[in-house]
This record gives sequence, C-alpha cells and structure tokens, in this order.
Amino acid sequence: MSRRTLIAGNWKMNLDRMSAIALAEAIAREAPAEDVDVAVFPPFVYMEAVRGVLERTPIAYGGQNMYFASSGAYTGEISGPMLIDMGARYVILGHSERRHIFGESSQLVGKKVAAAFEHGLVPVLCVGETIEQRRDGATQQVVFEQLGAGVAELSSDQVARMVIAYEPVWAIGTGETATPEQAQEVHADLRTWLTDRYNADIAGRVRIQYGGSVKPSNAAELLAQPDIDGALVGGASLEAESFLAIIAAGKA
Ligand code: PGA
Repeated sequence: MSRRTLIAGNWKMNLDRMSAIALAEAIAREAPAEDVDVAVFPPFVYMEAVRGVLERTPIAYGGQNMYFASSGAYTGEISGPMLIDMGARYVILGHSERRHIFGESSQLVGKKVAAAFEHGLVPVLCVGETIEQRRDGATQQVVFEQLGAGVAELSSDQVARMVIAYEPVWAIGTGETATPEQAQEVHADLRTWLTDRYNADIAGRVRIQYGGSVKPSNAAELLAQPDIDGALVGGASLEAESFLAIIAAGKA
C-alpha cells in the first residue's frame, strides 16, 4: 500500500505578516511538486496573506484548530466553512497544546474531526502520550483512547482519508525526538488498532505522520520507517531552509 508522504509545517503562534509571506514564498518557490505533499498551518490572521502566495501552487494550507459548529455565538472561534472559504484543505485537531493548555477533551476533538469532514476539510488528528504516561507503560492506552474518540463519528471511508499525527508530548518543542524505533512501534500499534476496528485496506490507506522535534538531521531515518508517512513539524518549519530540507528527506 503506497501512501503519499505529507510534510506539514505547524507555525503555531509565531511569525508576523511579512515573515509569514516570505516563508510561504520560499516554500512555494523551492519545494518539489512531485512525490511529496506539503502543507503549512499559519496563524488564522495570516491565512489570507498566505493564501495570496500559495493559491495557485501545489502547496496546501490549513487551520491549526477550529470549532465544530458552522457559525454562531462562539466568541474567538472559527468554523470549518470559514476555513473552506479561505481555501484551506486541512485542519489540525487535538494538538497536545490544545488538549493540555486549553483543556480540550478527546470527545470535543472527535466532534471537531467529524465536523471537518462534513465541511470538506481533511482533519489531521493529533495523538500522543506525556512522559509520565510513557513511564507508566500507558502509551498504547492513551493513544488508543484519543484515536477511538477522534474517529467515533466517522464513516470508514472518512477514516481512510484522514491524517493522524503521532506526537509524543515529551518530544514536542523539547529537542528530544522519539527514536525511529519508538515512533515506528506506536505507528504500527495505531495501524493495528485501525485494522482491528475497520480492516487492513482502510488501515493501509491512513497517513500517519510523526511529530516532535523533527529536524533535517533526524527526518530521513524517521521517514524511512514503514508506518511513518510524513512529519508534522513545529520549530523547524519556521525557517525555509530547515523545512525544505525535511521536505527533501520526505521525497527520498
Ligand atoms: P516541534 O513541534 O517540531 O517544535 O517539536 C511539533 C508539533 O507540535 O507539531
């Protein structure tokens, strides 16, 4: 089963308008169009500017979050139809920073994942354990709970088209990366869970990205693992040179 590699840059709450435009321009200019999918996730307020750069290029973009309702009295939130209106293709949901800093539950994330599909977006569902949970031997239990709640309202066809990002919380922004073996083990566990819940064909179509301190020096060996289908990159996506080097590793 061949799955197209997806290299994505999660810009989080970084950059300003001019540097966001410059970064998008550099990626659009230099990223290879074949063999690898590339996406960036700018802060909402810069999406219009990024759209101006990426609109007619193969580089996709998306939201870092969204609410499940389509519209209404939800101060500070943005909806799936708004992201579609801006030309977004993807939306990151359940990022550990949303779960841990902003208290999002797996059930809320599941509603958002279903809403993303309803509005024509591809959700990137993030799952991952904390260092305490890993030390307690609870990694599988934690990621299975997050995945189970995340896909609870989806059809099997939607599951096949979603993206999952395994991001161990202890590896995010810490410079500490899961070893390729540690990451591959959890990716394989997630795919086995999907095989048991659906079937091998559906499980074989789901793209599972790894995230957590991915950088040019470790990208190739992570991406060489059989069940790692891409990278969700934070810090190293904020500079064109390092992000482009990770894209090149994804192409190899
Ligand atoms: P990092 O972030 O690459 O800076 O560790 C990854 C993420 O949170 O998606």
